[in-house]
Amino acid sequence: MRVVSGIQPTGKPHLGNYLGAIVNYVKLQDEAHAAGGECFIFLADLHALSQPHDPAELTRNTREMVATLVACGVDPSKAILFNQAQIPAHAELQWLLNGTARMGWLNRMTQWKDKAGKNREGQSIALFNYPVLQAADVLLYQATHVPVGDDQKQHLELARDIAQKFNTDYCPEDAPLFTLPEPYIPPAAARIMSLRDGSAKMSKSDPSEMSRINLTDDADTVVKKVKKAKTDAEPLPSEAKGLEGRAEALNLVTIYCAVTGKSTDDTLSEYGGQGFGSFKPVLAEALVETLRPINARFLELKDDTEALDAILARGASKAREHAIPTLSAAYKALGLLRG
Ligand code: TYM
Repeated sequence: MRVVSGIQPTGKPHLGNYLGAIVNYVKLQDEAHAAGGECFIFLADLHALSQPHDPAELTRNTREMVATLVACGVDPSKAILFNQAQIPAHAELQWLLNGTARMGWLNRMTQWKDKAGKNREGQSIALFNYPVLQAADVLLYQATHVPVGDDQKQHLELARDIAQKFNTDYCPEDAPLFTLPEPYIPPAAARIMSLRDGSAKMSKSDPSEMSRINLTDDADTVVKKVKKAKTDAEPLPSEAKGLEGRAEALNLVTIYCAVTGKSTDDTLSEYGGQGFGSFKPVLAEALVETLRPINARFLELKDDTEALDAILARGASKAREHAIPTLSAAYKALGLLRG
């Protein structure tokens, strides 16, 4: 079992990152540890170069993201926690895979289309080529399980296509180099939506702070954001079918179920018929309880630069060891001489 996943250290991690991905980093880290496998969790700092950025902010966000992941339960004694920039093999393998990836495949990526909008010509090459680096991230470690939210599914399908084409083009049939990675997507919280717009995903890059709950928000802020969350005027339905076409209501119920572990049916049989005036305080309380220990641990860790850098350095040295054999095999398969 090889678990691999990454998160960009841009902005603050939010509830969507937590419920869509980080909860499963912790779950799969424990499963891999128990099964004698490996779990690689990394800060995708090289991916962050695909958008204009402030270097000092990227450094600060990278350390804060390490503190947040550890506060959420990623355990550096069980998982290999590191940042991409310390492992040149990620960028090297990306280049080797650039010969295999096709322009047409990248042109179809919805994230590229959404982020580039009408201004494709003005985007960085890194934004276009971003999914090839993501493929290198997972293929380098022979990932079997990749815990991600729904928005990354297409990128992982591309990673599988690249792996398959490379294996077919350059490897003997009975000795493929790359393992085909499987996305591991939570059934219920795969796509947490903005608190201001039920049709947009909760995102670090949304200009409105009120659209998301950051994992480092204090209790008052969480309560305020939930209170201001957009809803409709109807009371909650008593059955899941009644949430159809009510994106904001569905999102709040989804969040409540994800943080409490209750089913939609149980939640709606308890709160069906009640308005958001009574449901929102219950939701806010459940969120505050979930975030309280994360907040406390984050505050303890966040200013200990030395400890955070040491976690990354230790993780990088372990990750490097695992990366080298696959990278060397890829050079060899392509016929590149390396002394
Ligand atoms: P990023 O940094 O945007 O998000 C990190 C993880 O959080 C998930 N996520 C969500 N899940 C549910 N609801 C949401 N609203 C929501 N928003 C974000 C994402 O699906 C992701 O799992 N390209 C990746 C980083 C990456 C990566 C990789 C991931 C680079 N290399 C290799 C997996 C494997 C990204 O930008 O994630």
